[in-house]
Amino acid sequence: MNEQAKSKISVQDLHLYYGQFHALKGITMEIPEHEITALIGPSGCGKSTFLKTLNRMNDLEPNVRIEGSVRLDGADIYQDMDAIELRKRVGMVFQQPNPFPKSIFENVVYGPRINGIRNKAELEEICERSLRQAAIWDELKDRLGKSALGLSGGQQQRLCIARTLAVEPDVILMDEPTSALDPISTGKIEELAMQLKKDYTIVIVTHCSRTRRMSGRSGISREGLVNGSKCSAFASQAARQLAG
Ligand SMILES: Nc1ncnc2c1ncn2[C@@H]1O[C@H](COP(=O)(O)OP(=O)(O)OP(=O)(O)O)[C@@H](O)[C@H]1O
Ligand SMILES: [Mg+2]
Repeated sequence: MNEQAKSKISVQDLHLYYGQFHALKGITMEIPEHEITALIGPSGCGKSTFLKTLNRMNDLEPNVRIEGSVRLDGADIYQDMDAIELRKRVGMVFQQPNPFPKSIFENVVYGPRINGIRNKAELEEICERSLRQAAIWDELKDRLGKSALGLSGGQQQRLCIARTLAVEPDVILMDEPTSALDPISTGKIEELAMQLKKDYTIVIVTHCSRTRRMSGRSGISREGLVNGSKCSAFASQAARQLAG
């Protein structure tokens, strides 16, 4: 990890309650720009909950209360930012590929269309750029008009990554993006994450040891997230906690 890396997201004393249930307990963490930050830890410890606080997906849930702050490039995302604007800058890829029941082309340009881009040539350009970035252009370029639902799971997930990239976010959140995939597709997504970190800041929830190794930073424990510590340090800490 480059210790000098600029912090893209700064989390300060973040607490999240689902009704009476205290799910995140005082998380403080810096997420550096242009790095992959891996979140690891046992089921139910709050990885998905934490990830969703970074683009305010929890706002959609009833009875959620959040204390503390999350800053993106210094701006408080809960105080100073509109949620729609925020989600343009912080995109999310889910565990299960979730293409829309539309053509491959319409999936990729969905976000840009919502953002008001109407020009066909411009949409085609965005589609090609995004599919290339997601390392799936060659596989799909001759079937852009076909339904996205006809793709394999690995292709669907790369399509969903392309759909996220199409709106040019700064940050990409990935919640176990390879858990539904075979080893070859998993390898492709991992390689893709390595490529993307040049241009994007990536936060990924993963059980996969290889993805953890790709990341300079990780941090989550049974008790909640720990300050972004290096993987090896975390692994021994987690092992102690689990053993204890
Ligand atoms: N919408 C919700 N309402 C109430 N409690 C919830 C809600 N979502 C999650 N929780 C609880 O918050 C805790 C953290 O859940 P979360 O889904 O963040 O865990 P996780 O680390 O992502 O687990 P996994 O590895 O199984 O995906 C769990 O105890 C869970 O039951
Ligand atoms: Mg989860």
